[in-house]
Parts: sequence; structure tokens; C-alpha cells
Amino acid sequence: MTDSRAEHGLAVELSDLTRVYGSVRALDGLTLHIEPGELVALLGPSGCGKTTALRILAGLDTATSGTVSVGGKDLTKVPASKRDMGMVFQAYSLFPHMTVVDNVAFGLKMRGRDGAARRQRAGDMLDLVGLGEHADRYAHQLSGGQQQRVALARALAIEPSVLLLDEPLSALDAKVRVQLRDEIRRVQIEVGTTTLFVTHDQEEALAVADRVGVMNAGRLEQLAPPAELYSAPATKFVGEFVGLSNRLPAQVSGDTAVVLGRDVPVLPGSTTGSGHALVRPEAVSVVPDAGGGARVATVMFLGPLSRVTCRLPDGTDVVAQLASTEALRLQPGDAVRLEVAPEPVLVVG
Ligand SMILES: Nc1ncnc2c1ncn2[C@@H]1O[C@H](COP(=O)(O)OP(=O)(O)O)[C@@H](O)[C@H]1O
Ligand SMILES: [Mg+2]
Repeated sequence: MTDSRAEHGLAVELSDLTRVYGSVRALDGLTLHIEPGELVALLGPSGCGKTTALRILAGLDTATSGTVSVGGKDLTKVPASKRDMGMVFQAYSLFPHMTVVDNVAFGLKMRGRDGAARRQRAGDMLDLVGLGEHADRYAHQLSGGQQQRVALARALAIEPSVLLLDEPLSALDAKVRVQLRDEIRRVQIEVGTTTLFVTHDQEEALAVADRVGVMNAGRLEQLAPPAELYSAPATKFVGEFVGLSNRLPAQVSGDTAVVLGRDVPVLPGSTTGSGHALVRPEAVSVVPDAGGGARVATVMFLGPLSRVTCRLPDGTDVVAQLASTEALRLQPGDAVRLEVAPEPVLVVG
């Protein structure tokens, strides 16, 4: 990391965590290391164990096996009240009958800080999230986005060792969600607190995190910086879960595959022999060609980019994402040739 976050934060280590509820293995050997000051997003479908992992880190739930440490200290048996973690949940977690500043100061009061120090710290945190002027309002007088900013200020007021966010944006509408996402990232970089951000929304995870951990069925499939996760998925699950991909027939030999008649390098973890290459829509180009076997099926205008669906002679649909200036020259029914960019692809069975 290029900022000073590493000097402020503490390392978090989840080691081989298992959590069994009856017949459900919510976590199945989860190991995750978060660097001091780093923001890791845990991304995965509903039910994959994200909240369970966060609750075990917070001490709100106990692992069936495995350990939790923060700053090199084993916290596995330390109760939640002694872990000093700041938490923000989906929504509606403020005390509605308390003012904003009292909400933010609440944790400090519990920790026995005197009134003047509490008010000072709470005011600073409200300034940090841009709500200094709303200190004396009641929580219920704020919009959903403002309430979540107060929740963030409250979580940070206690100077937590770790900041935990469980789907903090999912109750908000799209525009506020993006604003607050960027706000959370700005604040996190400023305070340097090591952060675990849980979400099922891939765009959110990719936008906010230093590294994204993709979870599937209680395990971590891949932990990587956003661009790497997108361009070099390590497993079939990650390739299919993150971003939109075409599945194009591919024949692998050695470290290359033939996809749509072209040689393309394959990523580690690819299958051998025949399979399907996961090809991003932006890696497909559409060339008008009277002799080409493919036909344009639909052109969907999305603003600067358009999504063009073409049909191969065998009936396979291929989605290409093109600059709209290019796409608008294409009409449904046009004969075209499809080409795949020579970027590495994951080939799956
Ligand atoms: N208290 C519980 N009792 C029984 N099963 C639970 C409990 N908490 C979570 N689970 C189960 O554990 C799995 C993981 O849940 P959770 O961690 O909440 O997933 P996520 O946050 O990724 O949606 C799910 O199958 C869920 O039903
Ligand atoms: Mg959850």
C-alpha cells in the first residue's frame, strides 16, 4: 500500500475456521490474512458464510474449530466486549430516540470516557463523515445514507482495532450506495483501520477493496486485488461469479487454447483437452464480414458502450461489449466474424 495505513492498522489472521450448525457447514476451513490497514472485501453468494466469518472475527459467534488473531494476539477465546471492533450492519442499527452525536458517543460512554472528551471525539468523527452539522438531530430524522454514515462514525469513534462492515450499503438506493461506498473507502484510507467489508455485490467489492476474497460454500476460492481477480480468475467459480463471461468451446494443448479459431494463452487452473473458455464480453470483437459465419442477433445501447449479441452457426450466443460508435454500425442480421483478444483465459470443463 502506498499510504500510511500500514503504520496504523493491525494484521488480522483467520486460520482454518470451521463453523458447523447442525448439518450445515457455514465455514469449511476458511483461512484469511488481512494486512495492517488493508481493506479486504469478502464477496460471495448468499449463504456462503460471509456473515458467519465476520461474526466469528467480532466474537459474536464461536468457531467450531480454528483460530482468530489480531495484531499477533490470539483472540479466539476473548469475548466480543474485549475485542474493540467497530461494526456497521445493513441498516436500522442507530438508536432512533437519541441524537446523532449521542449515537456516535455511545460506545465511548460505555468505555467510561468523560462527557467533554466524548463530545469532542464524536464531533470529530461526524466531521470525518461529513455530518458535523447534523449532530443534534435525531437519528430518525436522517436519510438512510446519512444514518449509515452515522453508523460508520459510531463504529470508528472507539478507535477500533478492526472495522467490520456487513452489507452496509444494501438497504440504500443505487446512487446513494455508490456515494457512500466511495465515502467509506476515503474514510478508511484516512483512519488506516484494518477493515473487513462483507458484500454479495461484486461491483461494490471490486470498487472498494485492496483485495477481494471470493467465498464459496464456506471456503475462500481466491484472494486477489480487484483487477487480478477479474483478469485472472483462479477457479471456475470465481470466473463465473465475477463479471459476465461467455462460455466458448475451446481446445487446450499445452499452455494455449484454440478459441473461435484463434490461439489464446490459458490461465493456471485451466482444464486440459476440450472445454469451455470463459471469455469477457470486452475481449470479443465483431468484424463485419459477408463471409463470416456469425450473425448479429441484438444490439443493446448502454451509453458509451453497447452490448452486441451474435449467434454462431452452431447456435451458440456470444456477447461482445463494444464502443457504441462501433456497435451502432451493426444491425441485427448482419453477417460478422468474431475474434477473441489474445488475453489469457480460464478454460473450464
Ligand atoms: N445461527 C445459525 N443457525 C443455523 N444455521 C445458520 C446460522 N447462521 C448461519 N447459518 C447458515 O450458515 C450458512 C452461512 O450463513 P451466512 O454466514 O449468514 O451467509 P452469508 O452471510 O454469506 O449470506 C447458511 O447456510 C446459513 O443458513
Ligand atoms: Mg450475510
